[in-house]
Amino acid sequence: MFRSSALLSLLLLAIGGYATPVVREPSPVKLPFAVRFNNGTNGALNIIEADRARINLIKEQGAALAEKHENVHKRASYSVSVTNEAVTYIASIGVGSPATSYDLIIDTGSSNTWVGAGKSYVKTSTSSSTGKSVSVSYGSGSFSGTEYTDTVTISSNLVITKQSIGVASRSSGFSGVDGILGIGPTVLTEGTLSGSSTTEIPTVTDNLYSQGTISTAAVGVYFAPTTVEETTNGELTFGGADTSKYTGTLSYVSLTSTSPAKYYWGINQSIKYGSTSILSSTAGIVDTGTTLIYIATDAYNKYKSATGATLDSATGLLRITTSQYNSLSNLVFTIGSKTYTLTPNAQIWPRSLNSYIGGSSSYVYLVVNDIGSNTGSGLDFIDGYTFLERFYTVYDTTNSRFGIATTAQTTATTN
Ligand SMILES: *[C@@H]1O[C@H](CO)[C@@H](O)[C@H](O)[C@H]1NC(C)=O
Ligand SMILES: *[C@@H]1O[C@H](CO)[C@@H](O)[C@H](O)[C@H]1NC(C)=O
Repeated sequence: MFRSSALLSLLLLAIGGYATPVVREPSPVKLPFAVRFNNGTNGALNIIEADRARINLIKEQGAALAEKHENVHKRASYSVSVTNEAVTYIASIGVGSPATSYDLIIDTGSSNTWVGAGKSYVKTSTSSSTGKSVSVSYGSGSFSGTEYTDTVTISSNLVITKQSIGVASRSSGFSGVDGILGIGPTVLTEGTLSGSSTTEIPTVTDNLYSQGTISTAAVGVYFAPTTVEETTNGELTFGGADTSKYTGTLSYVSLTSTSPAKYYWGINQSIKYGSTSILSSTAGIVDTGTTLIYIATDAYNKYKSATGATLDSATGLLRITTSQYNSLSNLVFTIGSKTYTLTPNAQIWPRSLNSYIGGSSSYVYLVVNDIGSNTGSGLDFIDGYTFLERFYTVYDTTNSRFGIATTAQTTATTN
């Protein structure tokens, strides 16, 4: 009786509040963010070291998830060192009510959202401790602390109530930022809370969807090529794609069924250099947190010999001369039934940032590198930032698919 009358008054309240019922289809909401290249310990940016730490973590974590979900034992041991990430995307995110703003790294390769690395967590009336402890390790560091629920304000029209967030009491590897906004697959939150190894924590994208703020649990990502250390040229769109940021049509492919790539934003892809096949159709991942493009060792060796490149010991990157650059061919990625081309200019590190990575102005450095294992590992490529700054991409959980389109930057000469 009490319940039904309470329900009735709620309904009346709702009807009273909305005399004319308006069915509003939530549309995608944009969030600009900054792209920052971080200095390594010795001043110069060590991309390879930072990327390797991340790749090892992806392999380690993927193998652990495959073991748990598929009962397959393919655990290898990778050393995961603590280094700062080479490239980070930072957005200012509010937590609490009134909100305190935190500079958070936006990460598609992890899924816990947490604060407290730099600025301390400020409790307000919306803060509620779950009493559980939480810990996550990254290729670039780690954090541990207590899990809370609180209001998270991504932008004025993206407000989440009762978002589960970590509040760090300890963290390492996160200088200059306050924590992470994790927008990777939800499965990556498994095992991060005390008490249960199978509990998943709904991500901010999951909650925006379940709270009706967005109509599809999907995130669109746009970057423009970066030629300076830090610039606000990225845009994240919650709920789908920003049609003003791409050219032509957005094409979708199903996420890959191959393990361990399937525990990330995994797809199948093949690669040709000019007319030479470099990588046959195989599984890998798309990852905003990896700086370069990594391909299986056998594929990398083919690319190295086709381009005539030399491994540069100072930077860890492949290098070519200016005249080799002038005769470079296109690198063509086939995803689904479409091809996506990296022009010669899109295959090189921005020359204005050569000294920043410890390189020389007399060489041209290539952004394709070695993933460290031969084709067939289930993780045969990582399309990182240097690929993603040439295309618009969509990470769609609701429909288990990945979308990609060309942009005004695809064939631009910027590097
Ligand atoms: C990175 O190091 C360079 C010198 O190598 C310096 O000019 C620059 O200010 C540093 N950037 C940051 C963000 O510390
Ligand atoms: C991807 O490749 C694997 C292995 O060749 C294949 O089994 C799978 O059907 C392909 N497509 C998807 C969407 O996983």
